[in-house]
Amino acid sequence: MRTFVSLAAASIALAGLASASDVHDLKADTFKDFVSEHDLVLAEFFAPWCGHCKALAPEYEEAATTLKEKNIPLVKVDCTAEGDLCKEYGVEGYPTLKTFRGLDNIKPYPGARKAPAIISYLTKQQLPAVSLLTSDTLEEFKTTDKVVVVAYISADDKVSNQSYTALAESLRDEYIFGASNDAAVAKAEGVKQPALVLYKDFDEGKATFDKKFEEEAITKFIKTASTPLVGEVGPETYASYMGAGIPLAYIFAETPEERTSLAETLRPVAEKYKGQINFATIDAKAFGAHAGNLNLPTDKFPAFAIQETVKNEKYPFEGTSLTEKKIGAFVKDFVGGKISPSIKSEPIPEKQDTAVTVVVAHSYKDIVMDDSKDVLVEFYAPWCGHCKALAPTYEKLAELYTSKDFASKVTVAKIDATQNDVPEEIAGFPTIKLFPAGAKDAPIDYSGSRTFEDLAAFIRDNGKHGVDGLSAQKDGDVEMEDVSSAASDTLAKAAPAATTATDSAKSGATTATDSAKSGASTAKDSAKSGVKEAVKSVVSEAAAAAGTVFADTDSGGPQEHDEL
Ligand SMILES: *[C@@H]1O[C@H](CO)[C@@H](O)[C@H](O)[C@H]1NC(C)=O
Repeated sequence: MRTFVSLAAASIALAGLASASDVHDLKADTFKDFVSEHDLVLAEFFAPWCGHCKALAPEYEEAATTLKEKNIPLVKVDCTAEGDLCKEYGVEGYPTLKTFRGLDNIKPYPGARKAPAIISYLTKQQLPAVSLLTSDTLEEFKTTDKVVVVAYISADDKVSNQSYTALAESLRDEYIFGASNDAAVAKAEGVKQPALVLYKDFDEGKATFDKKFEEEAITKFIKTASTPLVGEVGPETYASYMGAGIPLAYIFAETPEERTSLAETLRPVAEKYKGQINFATIDAKAFGAHAGNLNLPTDKFPAFAIQETVKNEKYPFEGTSLTEKKIGAFVKDFVGGKISPSIKSEPIPEKQDTAVTVVVAHSYKDIVMDDSKDVLVEFYAPWCGHCKALAPTYEKLAELYTSKDFASKVTVAKIDATQNDVPEEIAGFPTIKLFPAGAKDAPIDYSGSRTFEDLAAFIRDNGKHGVDGLSAQKDGDVEMEDVSSAASDTLAKAAPAATTATDSAKSGATTATDSAKSGASTAKDSAKSGVKEAVKSVVSEAAAAAGTVFADTDSGGPQEHDEL
């Protein structure tokens, strides 16, 4: 009986072990020793209340289990318990992921917060920038990642070796690089030294580069050859598609089966425009709101649209029948410049009810680009709290320029950038820019405090006409002056608080925007660790702003874009 009991106890203990986490939970007194004892460690700094940390947890666990075999430990630190440790490593938001090669070589983890991305990144980090290969190791090496690059160069070709090594160093976070100096191996792979082969687990399986080994040419080759003919747009790939410098054609579909089948159908079109337009499917169930950003309906799939990524112009395809013939014709017209971009706009208002001129996409050219006037434009979003707070000040500002003398020189305008396509890149709300008369191609960003006086001074100092609304007002109506100075008093008192709030909003928004741009993070994580509550509202605005930037123009609200 005793034996039975202890066996049972042992098997319970074993079961407990088997389900135990592969993520090491470290504290101030264990962290440094642990990191020093391992060559490469990924650390997550988290807070128990953080939603993105919770979303990451299963992915992190999965990555930890896989990477355990490669002797790369994943650790986590609860910053609500180990505040000093987190501060020491500059943790400013949750989750923060950093790789440690000992205690001195620390880098932020730049990838997506998904198990495959974490595994792929750390595998690359563990390898030398270039792995030297032999005929025995080549085959296995080819399958270590979706894309691997192998150079075939002779042992005495120092020049090719050097440029290749430099390139591999600079791109080591993105690709895995190998090299062989065995001429027989090169021959077996069908190339002559020096040459480069990119092996991929999709499309035609490999691509060869046999021109001169120059960093720029090789980089371009790798970027093009590693992009699938019909890829997939998602949080991990969005940023690179946006940065590719060529248009992106989206194939929206709700199920994986439908996406695969449409990708097959449209493959010949993608093939025809390879290097000219990227083609990718996108999950319409998860990212359907993004269709709205391309001026497609958000409830009719499958759907197709082309986005000109440099100028941010959208070319939605009408209808849901995505045949090779129809899409082929549409893409041909796009390339031939026969289609005009779609512009989302509210209707032009029949009359202007307020001193602030309401601009929409369709009146943008007439009002904002009016070359005879200095035009101040506020780009706002209806949900933005700072925009609402600014509204009375902005209206008062606009009233300064309604007199006959000034109305022909200065316009104070606003545009709802969530309902109208605007040519400017908007990094947060509100964004205020002055488009001076005669210099419409060089708008000036307003970054001062959002007070009546400062805004008026900005128009005076940066506008071509130098209109001084404030002093004109003072010279004129005494009663007005009283009202205005009473108001400025109040404003002055409120100013320090407002400025602080604005600044933290700005830094929140900047962080969020950067995160969004890098495609690796989401805005909400920018919450400063210590001041969770205070920062929450700022962060939600920043998140929304970042969502906007990420998707270029916002229509679906922050929630959707958080994902993409
Ligand atoms: C490139 O040069 C390095 C340093 O000299 C050497 O270790 C490596 O084997 C060379 N690579 C090839 C493919 O010959």
